[in-house]
Amino acid sequence: QLILDTLDKEGTIKDTRTLTLPGHKDLAASHDSQIIILGALNSLSSRDMISYTTQETISHVLTPEGASIALNGSHEARVWAALPFKGEGDPVTPKDLEAKIGSEIAKVGQGRAFKSKWIGKEGNGLVKTVSSIEDVTQQEMREIDSTGTLKSGEKALAELRKRKLIVQRKGQWFTVQKGPAFSTSTAKPETDLTVDMITSGSWKTSTYKKYNFEAEGIPTNGGALHPLMKVREEIRNIFLEMGFAEMPTGSFVESGFWCFDSLFVPQQHPAREVQDTFYLSDPSTSLPPPKDYYDRVSTVHEHGGYGSTGYRAPWSEAETRKLLLRTHTTASSSAMLYKLAARCRGEEVDPNNDGLATHSGSTQRGKGDSGADATGFRPAKLFSIDRVFRNETMDATHLAEFHQVEGVVADRDLTLADLIGFMRVFFKKMGIENIRFKPAYNPYTEPSLEIFAFHPQLRKWVEVGNSGMFRPEMLEPMGFPKDVHVHGWGIGLERPTMIRYGINNIRTLVGHKVSIEGVEKSPAVRF
Ligand code: PHE
Repeated sequence: QLILDTLDKEGTIKDTRTLTLPGHKDLAASHDSQIIILGALNSLSSRDMISYTTQETISHVLTPEGASIALNGSHEARVWAALPFKGEGDPVTPKDLEAKIGSEIAKVGQGRAFKSKWIGKEGNGLVKTVSSIEDVTQQEMREIDSTGTLKSGEKALAELRKRKLIVQRKGQWFTVQKGPAFSTSTAKPETDLTVDMITSGSWKTSTYKKYNFEAEGIPTNGGALHPLMKVREEIRNIFLEMGFAEMPTGSFVESGFWCFDSLFVPQQHPAREVQDTFYLSDPSTSLPPPKDYYDRVSTVHEHGGYGSTGYRAPWSEAETRKLLLRTHTTASSSAMLYKLAARCRGEEVDPNNDGLATHSGSTQRGKGDSGADATGFRPAKLFSIDRVFRNETMDATHLAEFHQVEGVVADRDLTLADLIGFMRVFFKKMGIENIRFKPAYNPYTEPSLEIFAFHPQLRKWVEVGNSGMFRPEMLEPMGFPKDVHVHGWGIGLERPTMIRYGINNIRTLVGHKVSIEGVEKSPAVRF
């Protein structure tokens, strides 16, 4: 109000240090009052009632020691005052002087008082040698206290700073002008136009708060996709634009037959042990798989066939019937490939509902067209992104459940070069340009390749996936012709998500420690 009234009277305020704040009379020029003034200026200028410019100053304030001198006099003046005039009383010994005015003041003050020839020695004691003194230090302290500076100038100020009696302080003061919405009324501007304002006509004279186009708005309430699901969507789009169809993968529970045996994983393989795989206790066994196929699978394991010697190890039907939480989505891929080979086995299949896909990419066939050739085979590109389970020790980067991204391509005469070329294209679409391959081993693929990507932040090659050409021991018992080759690859969903979102502990992403707010605010992902 003071600012507005002063502007109203004088047009401008050249220097806010000249404003006298009610209740702050002595502080008009002080640091604190300029801070109070600045608060008022900001609030008035946000309403366009005023505008102001800031001026910087350097002023001085007293240290506690300086303040004590302003009040009680300098050390030397106090020494002088504590002594008798020469010949008018008993000289005071230095020891008595210390007892009288304090040892610190007595010691420092004596030196200065001697230097100014204010005091002298008389026997063992001290006496005044001049009848009056001028306490310049005290005067300077008082001047600085009220004006923030000294008329005598910087040299004297520097001396006092060195004596630690004053310190510099940066200050501000302001020049103020009227703004476009100047008024002497500080009534709060309206933020809403109400029915009352319209009927009473008060809207004509009201002042209104300006729109703040920078305001972020109130967050909306609503569902939010988890970061993993955002990355899944992005990867799903890559598959769909490359003409893949999404396999139905809702069956988290599989049998040992589909998860391992159909994939030519030997029954003695360590991955099948309870330390690695979660088995179900109730129910604990599955229905039997199709009889003919089961026989061909058990034969290729036990005795070989299709050019293979097989494992020639004991075969247990109980092992194939155990129910488990699938350890990889390749269990679903296997079941889908078995379906894809149905016509090759001479089975009837509804061309409009072959059970292979939930989402389809661009190579979807026409209605009623099975796409199959004379042998009953048709090429297929299938993918899945879903959950798998492993009995792992959990740490910052491992959980007992995670997501796999998997793609399989079936066609005649596919080669390893097709697989490599395909993965280069796929990873490039994910923004990963630099990949290389390392020979690896999977029971169901030969050759097998591990995929490594160069991580530009970590500046090293990190393993991102696993791949290979499915073995004839897996494909031929399903009924595929010999020249139908299938390649497949799998990558994790969690690692690319953690890299995308800069998360280094999996528990920040999955589990009870996940922040709902973090999920709600997680940005969209674009590869
Ligand atoms: N099932 C493999 C894994 O869990 C990935 C894979 C899929 C490998 C298809 C080859 C072919 O790592």
